[in-house]
Amino acid sequence: MRYLITGGAGFIGSHLAEHLLASGHEVVALDDLSTGTLDNLSTVSNHGAFRFVRGSVTDVAAIESAMAGVDAVFHMAAAVGVFTILDKTLDSLRTNLHGTENMLEAARKRDVPILVASTSEIYGKNTAHGLTEDADRIIGSPLKNRWSYAEAKALDETFAYLYSQEHDLRTVIVRPFNTVGPRQTGRYGMVVPRFVTQALAGQPITVFGDGQQTRCFCHVLDVVPALVALLSDSSAYGQVFNLGSTEQTTISQLAERVISATGSSSTIVKIPYEEAYGDGYEDMQRRIPDCTKAFDQVGFSPRRTLDDIIAAVIADRRVRVGR
Ligand SMILES: NC(=O)c1ccc[n+]([C@@H]2O[C@H](COP(=O)([O-])OP(=O)(O)OC[C@H]3O[C@@H](n4cnc5c(N)ncnc54)[C@H](O)[C@@H]3O)[C@@H](O)[C@H]2O)c1
Repeated sequence: MRYLITGGAGFIGSHLAEHLLASGHEVVALDDLSTGTLDNLSTVSNHGAFRFVRGSVTDVAAIESAMAGVDAVFHMAAAVGVFTILDKTLDSLRTNLHGTENMLEAARKRDVPILVASTSEIYGKNTAHGLTEDADRIIGSPLKNRWSYAEAKALDETFAYLYSQEHDLRTVIVRPFNTVGPRQTGRYGMVVPRFVTQALAGQPITVFGDGQQTRCFCHVLDVVPALVALLSDSSAYGQVFNLGSTEQTTISQLAERVISATGSSSTIVKIPYEEAYGDGYEDMQRRIPDCTKAFDQVGFSPRRTLDDIIAAVIADRRVRVGR
């Protein structure tokens, strides 16, 4: 199979590229390198079955070039990270909305299956214990820029669903919950690499809000095989799947665990949301998935613990210091 991965130079996309190449497939990566890097692709860039196309999912000519001979598409490209969304809200909205519609249309023209990466953010402020795929969305005002990522991703899902309904396009939607691991950067707001980088530098660990918000972190190497299994499974088409871990931690506990695992002398400093993100920022107190559906469909069951994840991110960040 020849797979196109949009966002292939990103954190999840580059692990997916490695996984597919190791399984004997060809991979084309389309990426504009806005948050991804060529460094993420250093393990695959010389592989004979790999091709990189620098370009945007908002550029139909770049998509056409990348789609040549492709049998299936992983649409992972997006403007991500709270800092990115708040700094470049309009550009991010365009990428996350028009980019996805472009990729669905390109897949429809060639009648190839496509997996669309959505996000747990679409659940917004719904703090139910164990969010199932049909849980309600509780979203703040559309005039709060913070919600534009969730709004765009929700519309992406609707686009994908309607392409499957009205064009018989083979689509799968996934909602990752806080996927973490080597290569993820803290630069755009991701909390685990941000804390690890601060701890390794002996700087204060900055917890935004009261630190009591609960999250579940899942290792990227547990998520990637599930993406492949879902796109290969025709009975998954037209459906949506949560992908995440159910091991819970508060953000304050996470900071403490990072300090202990790094042996750092860092202190923990709490910063009010308004100071970190500007006035009117809203967050959700709890974000816990129910992944029964993905387990029933493809046996999705994350093996790696939060301690494994923290250890992997520390090892990765240590190697990257100075690069
Ligand atoms: N990591 C997580 O916790 C998480 C959680 C939920 C959803 N997701 C989704 O998974 C996907 C991958 O995220 P990630 O964590 O690997 O982030 P990432 O930033 O590492 O990857 C996104 C990639 O898309 C590229 N990109 C951005 N705009 C583009 C454009 N216009 N054209 C082409 N490429 C573009 C970036 O350069 C980057 O390489 C995204 O769709 C994201 O919304 C991730």
